[in-house]
Amino acid sequence: MINNSDNSIYGPYLPELEQVRTRLMDEIERIRTDLSDRLGMDPVEHCLSRIKTEESMREKCRRKGLPETVDSALFRIHDAIGIRVVAAFVSDVYRIRDLLSQVNGLRITEEKDYIRHAKPNGYRSLHLILLCDEKWYAEVQLRTISMDTWAALEHHMRYKKKISRNLPLIEAELKRCADELASTDLSMQTIRDMILEEETI
Ligand code: GTP
Ligand code: MG
Repeated sequence: MINNSDNSIYGPYLPELEQVRTRLMDEIERIRTDLSDRLGMDPVEHCLSRIKTEESMREKCRRKGLPETVDSALFRIHDAIGIRVVAAFVSDVYRIRDLLSQVNGLRITEEKDYIRHAKPNGYRSLHLILLCDEKWYAEVQLRTISMDTWAALEHHMRYKKKISRNLPLIEAELKRCADELASTDLSMQTIRDMILEEETI
């Protein structure tokens, strides 16, 4: 692993990226506390963050036909900082998105709603590109626990090179599971809303 800033694709900016990552995680923690107080329940199951590895950033530059430079890594590719927020319910995903968009110094520059418009394979998540202090980009993936379980399994399958004979069947089954999980997420949401309504009557 190359850490020397002379050779790093992030140049001397790795400490800055780490600071932005920490700041975003702190903002999410604040949102989590705020929503816990309002809902009487912590909406976040877990939250992960990472800086894309040197190797994976270089691979992405090549895949996108970009030169392997600091400019590409920081300003043309927008997921050097990646955050995944896993929430209990679909409504919490959108609540967290709304609250993130209101944070001073943060702006959503791109939104891909794979919850309302699932990918053909069944993948669901809300993807945001955040611009921090008009300079640093970060990708935030928001999803429910069911969506996260599915994505982990699908990711595992995709990187298993040996699958060949049963691939069409596996893909069809994964898609079916994704749709069933989405339907269960909706039912769980309805039950939660009914419980909250009871509590406020
Ligand atoms: P790249 O950013 O170049 O990878 O392409 P893109 O911008 O079209 O990707 P997108 O924003 O749709 O998704 C980026 C990230 O979302 C990936 O790195 C994964 O973490 C996740 N993701 C997207 N699609 C899938 C999928 O079908 N399965 C799983 N498991 N994860 C996915
Ligand atoms: Mg992307």
